[in-house]
Amino acid sequence: MTPTDSLLTMDLRSGDDDWSPTPHGHWLATMLAEKDLVSGRDVLELGAGVANHTILIHRKGARSIVATEITEELIETSKVNFERNCGDGADIDFRVADWLSTPGRFDVVVSNPPFCQSGKQNRRYFLDSLILDAHKRLRPRGELVFIQSSMADFGETERRMDRNGFDVEIVGTTSGPFRDYYFEDAQFMKEIEQVDGGYELRDGVYHEHLRVYRGKLREWAPHSNAHLPGQG
Ligand SMILES: C[S@@+](CC[C@H](N)C(=O)[O-])C[C@H]1O[C@@H](n2cnc3c(N)ncnc32)[C@H](O)[C@@H]1O
Repeated sequence: MTPTDSLLTMDLRSGDDDWSPTPHGHWLATMLAEKDLVSGRDVLELGAGVANHTILIHRKGARSIVATEITEELIETSKVNFERNCGDGADIDFRVADWLSTPGRFDVVVSNPPFCQSGKQNRRYFLDSLILDAHKRLRPRGELVFIQSSMADFGETERRMDRNGFDVEIVGTTSGPFRDYYFEDAQFMKEIEQVDGGYELRDGVYHEHLRVYRGKLREWAPHSNAHLPGQG
């Protein structure tokens, strides 16, 4: 077994409402295992699911972790899976929180944001929100690490990250066939037709590309004439 394989070996259990990891989650896990993205850092993980990434973030030596989910039941799954694999001695806080609405400043924010099934009119809502507002949860020079599909528009993400003060690095790419549920949403299939390079047909089979991005906040200070009431 390779070192990456042993990092990725975990006992995960889930109920009907829990998110079962997909190739997106597996690729982010591989990148977390292979690269040095979190060691010695205070990490905020958004949408921890079955704790597949939370466990890795701990195994890779994060100093502390805050892991979030949207309901008590979902965060209970994250907590139980984490403790089964990592014990109860870690510096970790499991919180119910709506996306970035949780207190604290961190060195790294990690996520596999909802996209295809985001349930929002702007399907990119969670990605866009992350790019726009993660700076409120990050320390200066903090980093954002997330996975995205080509269907969600790589160009749009890279432009928005740059505009919002992040230096962009592509940590790793892969590709794979569409999941069956993509085809079940006719509106989704229509939307991705509009995305430049959103998918690739290989021998008639739809494939998406996946990228793990790392965005690093650039040094910045407000313009000298900025009007910032209440911010000293
Ligand atoms: C694509 S799944 C990723 C789960 C897990 N990290 C993985 O990669 O397998 C997105 C996760 O975000 C959670 N989620 C959805 N809306 C959320 C919100 N508003 N705030 C926090 N988490 C949310 C879902 O419950 C789900 O577990």
